[in-house]
Amino acid sequence: MILITGGTGFIGSHTALLLLENGYEIVIVDNFVNSSREVLKRLERLIGASIPFVELDLRDEEALEQLFMTYNIDSVIHFAGLKAVGESVEKPLYYYENNIGSTLVLCKVMEKFGVMKLVFSSSATVYGAPELVPIVENTPLHSTNPYGRTKLMVEEILKDLYISNPNWSIALLRYFNPIGAHESGEIGENPNGTPNNLMPYITQVAIGKRKELYIFGNDYPTMDGTGVRDYIHVTDLAYGHVKALEKLNKSTGIDAYNLGTGKGYSVLEVVKTFEHVTGVSIPYKFVKRRPGDIAECYADPSKANKELKWEAKKTLEDMCQDSWRWQKKNPEGFC
Ligand code: WQD
Repeated sequence: MILITGGTGFIGSHTALLLLENGYEIVIVDNFVNSSREVLKRLERLIGASIPFVELDLRDEEALEQLFMTYNIDSVIHFAGLKAVGESVEKPLYYYENNIGSTLVLCKVMEKFGVMKLVFSSSATVYGAPELVPIVENTPLHSTNPYGRTKLMVEEILKDLYISNPNWSIALLRYFNPIGAHESGEIGENPNGTPNNLMPYITQVAIGKRKELYIFGNDYPTMDGTGVRDYIHVTDLAYGHVKALEKLNKSTGIDAYNLGTGKGYSVLEVVKTFEHVTGVSIPYKFVKRRPGDIAECYADPSKANKELKWEAKKTLEDMCQDSWRWQKKNPEGFC
């Protein structure tokens, strides 16, 4: 049975659905700090069955031990974590305590129950402002904000854990920019308040919830002056977790993998593609750069392609189409 922490979140819910569709048995834990109970109902409706679920905070060691006693867990996908860069700058202790504290308790309980297969939800943010693109996994790691540092620190903790006990099988999955939604439009990205990320902001402009898109800087050294990122469809990303699990079932060790498409798109390219695909115009205004943003960030995914036998298949058009379908069906998100 696979334990999915943070399984009602954006990437967690898409991965849970894909695992269920592929016949895996899962149990989800979540404390709903950044997600909605409605997601569970949507998932159960989509697969036509109830899904084992436990509401708990991962820092509650006793409750987590109780879960491991109740369910026969053989591997864990660890999504649970706070992920807003700006908030992490305002509340670093909250982020360190939550993201690192919960992982320490999880690993302790896993080791106690002899569960040694872990897929960790990391992020391209561990590369900071890379000198070279496309980015390979042995690029020097350096993060520029507390959120990114929690990801970096957890990666280091997991490397030390593996050195202390080589029976561990650990995959560190470094996501680039996940966007899009399941083709049903039943689950998708549901940010609280004003979206930090580009695509949810665009879709909220498209449904008329926001007046216009503010493009943070058009003076970057890129093809059109706006920021370039590696957008990856969330279902391609989910599939990367399934393939990582398959690898963990075959070998011990610890490895990092870039989960990206290997293709960078600028903000303006995303806007133009969204307009072309949906027929909805997105008014925008150039404003000053957002502090901490970098010009270009996109993956060299060849290590994941080769070792996980995985590659992203969906196009930017698919991502725009699926994001729009989700937002149209859920103008107020998971209300
Ligand atoms: C993409 C591009 C912005 C919003 C962040 C986190 C990272 C990861 C993914 C968790 C940039 C521009 C955005 C807007 C804009 N999260 N933009 N107007 O910053 O690449 O990565 O999300 O792991 O840790 O940092 O993604 O979607 O915020 O920005 O112009 O309203 O869109 O400047 O060029 P980012 P993003």
